[in-house]
Amino acid sequence: MKGLILAGGSGTRLRPITHTGAKQLVPVANTPILFHSLQHLADAGIKEVGVIVGDTAEEIREAVGDGSQWGLEVTYLPQEAPLGLAHCVLIAHEFLGDDDFVMYLGDNLLRDGIVSFVEGFEAARATDEVPAAAQILLAPVPDPQRFGVAAIGDDGSIVELVEKPEVPPSNLALVGVYLFDKTIHEAVRAIEPSERGELEITDAIQWLIDNGHRVRHEELKGWWLDTGKLTPLLEANRLLLEILEPEIEGTVDEASRIEGRVVVAEGAVVTRSIIRGPAIIGPGTEVTDSYIGPFTSVDADCAVVDSELEHSIVLARSTISNVPRITDSLIGRDAVVSRSGERPAANRFLVGDHCQITITP
Ligand code: TTP
Repeated sequence: MKGLILAGGSGTRLRPITHTGAKQLVPVANTPILFHSLQHLADAGIKEVGVIVGDTAEEIREAVGDGSQWGLEVTYLPQEAPLGLAHCVLIAHEFLGDDDFVMYLGDNLLRDGIVSFVEGFEAARATDEVPAAAQILLAPVPDPQRFGVAAIGDDGSIVELVEKPEVPPSNLALVGVYLFDKTIHEAVRAIEPSERGELEITDAIQWLIDNGHRVRHEELKGWWLDTGKLTPLLEANRLLLEILEPEIEGTVDEASRIEGRVVVAEGAVVTRSIIRGPAIIGPGTEVTDSYIGPFTSVDADCAVVDSELEHSIVLARSTISNVPRITDSLIGRDAVVSRSGERPAANRFLVGDHCQITITP
């Protein structure tokens, strides 16, 4: 079994905090989203992983390296443009050979990983009379119109997949993790680009079904998030912090208080402050005379001074000083948010493209 992680595409939807950078590298609970999927593949016993990269290839290569920090062997597979999820399979054929593989969308986050999903596929293929050519993961959602949706037959097989249906055949949405055997290579060669000009994986799976191949499915138990949109990022952060292993490795002085599920990474210094978990303070970050409230991730080498911060993500090397209350916020790298006593008493901004700022009295 091999792994294929899709990390192409430029991440336009997260431009406010990544600029033109890779959306898959946005840290959630101080760990890039992509690292969670690499860990999940490693946990499932997979060694060889192909990573599809696009115009953010350099950044992804720099962050992931050869994959050895997860015990993986990573091969980079450049895609000339984001031409669709099935196009990724097409260009990965040489790397994948005839092996079964897990395809994992690099901007998806799954609480429980993929071990039981992979085991379920392998067990079924060993015993089923007609082994499935693919397995998809489904999750009930309240708004199936926004997703790829599956219709399931009486025998539990998938009958049809419909992309963003007006009248959904079920409330089961496709999660961004798929299992395939070599038959998928035939499927991705057979289909045509969709109206939006992409080779769609839903069309390739539908081709499998239409050509008499079985497609199994499993239902997801724990939460799952497609972090491709802005709002779920704070939600993803909240959900991941809730399952964080508390650990205090940095320095916390006597005058500070740590409450609940909190990580203070090595080299972090907390002085005269309150940190109310779940929260994570990255390595080298200094929190002084401040309050860090629940569901907050402050990444490496930041300074938070005389400020209050809650339900927010602050990326590396940023400074927040003398700001009484920040909530529901995403603050990018190397940013400075500060309050000064200068006259005239007006707000002064140097705001990048695609940013959103809300000011209250
Ligand atoms: P998305 O563009 O989010 O794919 P989607 O089908 O979920 O989007 P939509 O809601 O618009 O239907 O991409 C998912 C992941 O796959 C993301 O990490 C980028 C990556 N990707 C590639 O590597 N190559 C591609 O050609 C595409 C389309 C996506």
